[in-house]
Amino acid sequence: MEELIIKGAKRLQGEVTVNGAKNAAVAIIPAAILSDDICIIENLPYIDDVISLCNTLNDMGVKCEFIDKHTLKVDSRNIKNFCATYESVKKIRASYYLLGALLGRYKKAEVAFPGGCDFGIRPIDQHIKGFSALGADVVVEHGMIKASAKKLVGTSIYLDVVSVGATINIMLAAVLAEGTTVIENAAKEPHIVDTANFLNSMGANIKGAGTDVIRIVGVKKLSGTNYMIIPDQIEAGTYMMAGAITRGDVTVKNLIPKHMESLSAKLSEMGVKVEEGDDFIRVIASDPLKGVNVKTLPYPGFPTDLQPQMSALLSTAEGTSIITESVWENRFQYIDELKRLGADIKVEGRVAIIKGLRKLTGAQVSATDLRAGAGLVLAALAAEGKTTITNLKYIDRGYEFIEKKLSALGADVKRVKK
Ligand code: UD1
Repeated sequence: MEELIIKGAKRLQGEVTVNGAKNAAVAIIPAAILSDDICIIENLPYIDDVISLCNTLNDMGVKCEFIDKHTLKVDSRNIKNFCATYESVKKIRASYYLLGALLGRYKKAEVAFPGGCDFGIRPIDQHIKGFSALGADVVVEHGMIKASAKKLVGTSIYLDVVSVGATINIMLAAVLAEGTTVIENAAKEPHIVDTANFLNSMGANIKGAGTDVIRIVGVKKLSGTNYMIIPDQIEAGTYMMAGAITRGDVTVKNLIPKHMESLSAKLSEMGVKVEEGDDFIRVIASDPLKGVNVKTLPYPGFPTDLQPQMSALLSTAEGTSIITESVWENRFQYIDELKRLGADIKVEGRVAIIKGLRKLTGAQVSATDLRAGAGLVLAALAAEGKTTITNLKYIDRGYEFIEKKLSALGADVKRVKK
């Protein structure tokens, strides 16, 4: 068991470089098994979700081999089975992409219900609706989702909810299907575009990714490729807010400023100075910061995955702020932990009312999920005194060397064994 010990109230200053996008990585690694050949994926984050996914694929006979810490070779020429058991996928939510990829390539998939972060009911009915529309039989029994098809045939699929996972999964299943598939009301997140670009680099024919209508013309086979994934929007946003919450001066490098627009706009509204370059954003903050209202939405709206970090930041801003969580039903569980650091927050359903304070104070807290953990880290950086954060397994799912990156910015952060 490890914990992070943070001695807060230190102004962060300097540069931090963002890794490749977790949510792109966990889609693109399974997507690689759609190819008949070897795929090399570069700029992967070295995080637990990526490692767990590689272990799952290795169990299936796919050879996943790290050429270096951030470059993976995926060779699925000798895949042995099409089943990902509970034991192997329990840690990662995105194991559901194995369904679309296996179904697309082998017309057969068995994957245990996904694990990952728990913030409310996480249905996958839209994924299943998409697979069924393409001609697959899908049954859910004994905690396993089993999908099979004689052949998959393109069709038009309207998503009832804007779902990142369903959009990507249907794309994965449809690239090798006969004819044309059209996904309407598709999600538009950057990692959807990245996954489509990856598939196109293997010879797929996908148009419209990044808009709400994606058109996929099925091809007979996909070749190997060499692909570099995009920077992580959420990691970038977390470090931008680390700069803001410590009233620091932090330049976040290797990001795509366009992906950060909703956050940059909110930070500016709060009174933070946000300077954009081609591939970096510099955040300069000083007291006082103003409270603002934030509503999470699908991209290009404010990302739900930056909501806990924003709660932490708004806890240190003047006045009352309101956060409305409109993507997930139950994503305020971490608020009780934030309150231990002195935050004044009241939750009513999907709304959190935050009364800004001058100071947070250190305490012992526990990460309840990945981004909640990031929110606690930010709050701890701003808090007077010592904060101990436990349950690091969540934070390690999505942040590579968080303590090293923060230390390089001047934070007093140590990872210790309990
Ligand atoms: C992805 C991200 C996650 C992020 C979320 C929303 C990955 C690996 N994870 O999760 O970090 O918080 O997008 O940006 O990329 N829904 C249904 N039926 C479905 C699927 C989803 O009702 O079949 C609902 C969900 O309950 C939720 C909303 O749609 O309320 C959005 O979920 P979705 O976009 O699918 O999230 P994930 O892909 O699981």
